[in-house]
Amino acid sequence: MANHTGNLFIGLATVLVLIMRVAPLKMKPEDKYLGCYENIGPRELTGDWMEDKQSNSPEVCKDFCREKGFKYAGTQAGSFCYCGNSYGYRWDNKRKCDIPCPGDSTQKCGSSRHSSVYELDFYIGCFIDQVSRDLSGAFFSKDTMTVQACTGFCQSEGFQYAGLRASKECSCGNTYGRYGMVPPNDCWITSQNKCKGNVNEFCGSHWRNSIYATELVPHNLYIGCYSDSVYHDLDGDSYTDGQAMTPETCSNYCRSKGSNVAGLQAGSECYCGSSFLTYKRANWDECDSPCTGNSSQQCGGTLHNSIYVLDYHYFVDLRL
Ligand SMILES: *[C@@H]1O[C@H](CO)[C@@H](O)[C@H](O)[C@H]1NC(C)=O
Repeated sequence: MANHTGNLFIGLATVLVLIMRVAPLKMKPEDKYLGCYENIGPRELTGDWMEDKQSNSPEVCKDFCREKGFKYAGTQAGSFCYCGNSYGYRWDNKRKCDIPCPGDSTQKCGSSRHSSVYELDFYIGCFIDQVSRDLSGAFFSKDTMTVQACTGFCQSEGFQYAGLRASKECSCGNTYGRYGMVPPNDCWITSQNKCKGNVNEFCGSHWRNSIYATELVPHNLYIGCYSDSVYHDLDGDSYTDGQAMTPETCSNYCRSKGSNVAGLQAGSECYCGSSFLTYKRANWDECDSPCTGNSSQQCGGTLHNSIYVLDYHYFVDLRL
């Protein structure tokens, strides 16, 4: 009997070890490295920037851009940091982002022409709150509050947004913003705004929520231009719309069909699938057909797909 239990235990332990080895690592939000993108003449990251020859690192740069309210941060040429709300079409397939960061030589901070680009951890902005909370779905408060503690809690409760207020309060909801948005520094000017559990993070302020998205928010990540053939790379559902095609409408359509990937082609075509990469990555300017639904957006090209990944973890698996 003891033996039997022992064998069972060893069996279970083996299965567990196997699962742990095979299961994709779940990335922390702050690990969202998107790749090495050309960022020069004209730059792709066109928001604020700074240079810090002593201490630039991915963390320093991400904090700088997050505090300014941007969605992406790119470290470049070691000491530079660029922020923006969109990032490169010009992915560098040689991935030569190999200059050590001055603040942490174990990490890389771009190259002279390229930025190591990160997506910031779902920060949306600083919003007014009132007694009747903006995010009214779930709530908890604790003296060791961090952004991750709050987003993790809201996600596990099934909510898309997390709001941090007064250094230690966390509320969740599926909508936000009914009392209005305020400038980013309303949520980060003083040390009172720092999270009780992590003084490097911002947790709102007096009647102000720092709002973050959880991973339950539908997410479209543009990963580049890929060539295609008449035997379509993405072989799931598809449709053509000569009037209203945009990356958003195509991504929503593919998501509703259960696909992980959406590809836009020739301005008006949308293809869905759950794997791709049969064909090669192409130059960004092969995907510059204007979308029929918004001519200032790009929807692929002739036999070229603008590829969007709809599930971040799927993208991480692809990159590994
Ligand atoms: C069209 O796309 C641009 C660039 O992404 C965006 O700023 C603009 O709001 C879009 N227009 C409409 C009508 O959605």
